[in-house]
Parts: sequence; C-alpha cells; structure tokens
Amino acid sequence: MNAYREVSMSATTPNPKDFATHAISLTLNGQPRQLDVLPWTTLLDLLRDQLDLVGTKKGCDHGQCGACTVLRDGTRINACLTLAIMCDGAELTTIEGLANGEELHPMQQAFIKHDAFQCGYCTPGQICSAVGLVNEGRASTRAEIQELMSGNLCRCGAYSNILAAVEEALPQFHSAAPKPEVNS
Ligand code: FES
Ligand code: FES
Repeated sequence: MNAYREVSMSATTPNPKDFATHAISLTLNGQPRQLDVLPWTTLLDLLRDQLDLVGTKKGCDHGQCGACTVLRDGTRINACLTLAIMCDGAELTTIEGLANGEELHPMQQAFIKHDAFQCGYCTPGQICSAVGLVNEGRASTRAEIQELMSGNLCRCGAYSNILAAVEEALPQFHSAAPKPEVNS
C-alpha cells in the first residue's frame, strides 16, 4: 500500500523547477516589491512561505474561515482563494502593515481593550476584515457589524468582544481617509 502510494505520488506531483515563474510587482505594506511566483502559488502561501509574513493565517485553505483575510486596495479578500499572480499591480496590506511603527492601528487597540481574542489565530483575519468593513462604509449598527463580519470564524467564541471592539473603533474611521470603491 505504501509502495503504491509512493509510486503514485512521484508520478503525479509536479516538480516546481519544471515550471516557469512569473514576475509580478505589487505594493506590500507600503513597500514596492518585485516577486517571481509560480502560477499556482496562492497569495496566502506567498505571504507565509516566501515572504515570512506569517501573521496571515491558514485555517482552512478553502475560503471558509476568514483566517487568511488581507486587504487588497482597501478591500478585504481571502488570501487562500487568491493566486499570487492575480496580485500584479495590487496594493496589499496584511496585519503586519497596520501599525504605524510602535503605534497600533485603532482597530488593534480596540481588540486589545475589549479582549477580543483568546488563542489569537483568527485575530489577524478578524482585524483586517474589520478594517475592510470600515472601508466599505456599510456597517453602522451592531446587527450590520455582526452580519458583515460573519465570514470570520472564531472557535474561541470571542464574538461578543470582537463586536464590542469593532463597534468602538468604527466611528474613529468615519472621518479618516477617503473610502475605496467597493463593488458589491
Ligand atoms: S484559510 Fe482562507 S478562508 Fe480559511
Ligand atoms: S481567538 Fe481563537 S479562534 Fe478566535
């Protein structure tokens, strides 16, 4: 059985060296980057495995948990469902890019203030998602925040504290920078 599996895997698993990489340019956390990526590499794997930005988490790799949420041109996306090659020309922000030096982003401060995390694994995605939610400008009530944050799962059950954190941080953004266009 094991021998069969070994033969089968070696016959079907492609060797990355046999495939051409593609050059892409993007802005990542404010820094221009030139990168060579394989056509099947997801943005999530690019961030974690190639760029060592491990704040963005992989909870499912199937678009179901939201742990991989990052911001593309201010809009939240699932990095696990985005091929790196699709990010040519994009402006990306990950959890590592939210703070201004030593000063935490207001959404990060609100999460700490309200104990909006326990294990912390869903937290980078929750915070990026919350910032994206603010950019969308669609949430103003508790119920709307709840509904529009429902793509981010938290198995520690910190939902009520996450809600309190987002609710507190929300007004601070309404006078901030212009909102990006969000297709909806
Ligand atoms: S890892 Fe992307 S949605 Fe779960
Ligand atoms: S804080 Fe543990 S999964 Fe959300």
